[in-house]
Amino acid sequence: MAHRNGHSDRPARSHPSKGLVGFVIVCALLSLIWFNAGSEGQLRKTYSSLSNEAEKPASFSTTASAGSEQQTVDAQLHNVTSPSMNVSLPAPFPTLSPPDNEEYMAICMAVKNQSRDLPEFFTHYYFHHGIRRFYIFDDGTEPPLSSVTYPIPSSAITWVYFQPHLHSDQLDDRKGIQEQYYSGCVTMFGDRHTWMGFLDADEFLEMTGGETLSGFLHEWARNNTVGAVGVNWLVHSSAGLLTRPAEGPRKAFNRCIVDDPNNDNLKVKTFVRTALFDTMWNCHCVAVLKNGAIQVGEHGDVIDKSCDRKPITRDRWGLHHYGTKSREEFLEKQARGKIRGGKSTEHWWNKIENAEQRDCLELTKYVP
Ligand SMILES: *[C@@H]1O[C@H](CO)[C@@H](O)[C@H](O)[C@H]1NC(C)=O
Ligand SMILES: *[C@@H]1O[C@H](CO)[C@@H](O)[C@H](O)[C@H]1NC(C)=O
Ligand SMILES: *[C@@H]1O[C@H](CO)[C@@H](O)[C@H](O)[C@H]1NC(C)=O
Ligand SMILES: *[C@@H]1O[C@H](CO)[C@@H](O)[C@H](O)[C@H]1NC(C)=O
Repeated sequence: MAHRNGHSDRPARSHPSKGLVGFVIVCALLSLIWFNAGSEGQLRKTYSSLSNEAEKPASFSTTASAGSEQQTVDAQLHNVTSPSMNVSLPAPFPTLSPPDNEEYMAICMAVKNQSRDLPEFFTHYYFHHGIRRFYIFDDGTEPPLSSVTYPIPSSAITWVYFQPHLHSDQLDDRKGIQEQYYSGCVTMFGDRHTWMGFLDADEFLEMTGGETLSGFLHEWARNNTVGAVGVNWLVHSSAGLLTRPAEGPRKAFNRCIVDDPNNDNLKVKTFVRTALFDTMWNCHCVAVLKNGAIQVGEHGDVIDKSCDRKPITRDRWGLHHYGTKSREEFLEKQARGKIRGGKSTEHWWNKIENAEQRDCLELTKYVP
């Protein structure tokens, strides 16, 4: 620009000046392409160095040496100039989402005793949705969930530990605790993020319409009437598996229940705009938003206090909910109990297992 203005009052030079402008534009484009390729390359390097670490089975099952192993992961991450790329590592699929380094969005979770389930959860959201901030409210797990190594940089995870865990076999004995955790998450950390999502360790988001999560949420943030956006569940069954599959839920549980206005695919989980958030209605959706804001589904349709959304659509996004997993994991889930008291019922297992099902292969191809 400076060149162009500097020469514009001299007609004799107009020709070379045009060339110069073209040159500058080409340079700008090239550097843009280089920049994008650079960040993509960086992401793939991170993926490969972290994946090497994650392949060591011991890192999930022991806690004694966890601290030093986590340091190794971080050291590898910062050592991206070393030729650590393992060429035999499968290419990421689908294309990895750009990292949300400004932490425009974050995820809040209340969880206990699921250190074996968290690695795949973190991997999915870190690499495929670009999430760089996870708030994990650990409901008294012994030893704490934070003492285990996970396959993403520890700097992306903020642990909040509540002790002791007061388990109760009475359903709703700790009624409201999960909502308190979620509201607390927004109170404590909400001012650092424009959006926060409230998810469980068995919920995996898919952007079905080719958008990124960040792009999708940026778009909703332009409308000040919208304070929260809900995504419909797609509940997966055990797919007939009796024991915990080695390859993880996204690959293994490839059957889900067919949408029906009377089944659990109606349920939504929610991302809220922190500036408009007041309190949760239940763990699925938001009761009160500020300034009369509303909660909507992907088409701008209003979601009411039932936290159900019908017609069920997943044109832009959908939430795969591995609610039963294998029989073995369901029994563990029952033993663990719900955070609010009580436990998952046999009735619910039967309801999902006996519902009409179809193949659900969408997430089976994801790498990592
Ligand atoms: C970087 O990696 C190289 C080769 O693996 C290693 O020798 C070096 O100590 C690493 N540097 C840091 C700071 O971790
Ligand atoms: C690369 O990955 C393969 C397969 O996972 C493994 O056998 C090999 O040892 C790895 N090589 C390096 C240098 O990490
Ligand atoms: C935590 O879960 C594991 C299985 O993943 C189980 O063996 C263990 O008993 C559980 N601990 C508690 C305190 O529930
Ligand atoms: C904002 O979203 C609401 C709910 O979908 C819709 O009714 C309204 O027209 C939108 N406003 C704008 C300016 O797009």
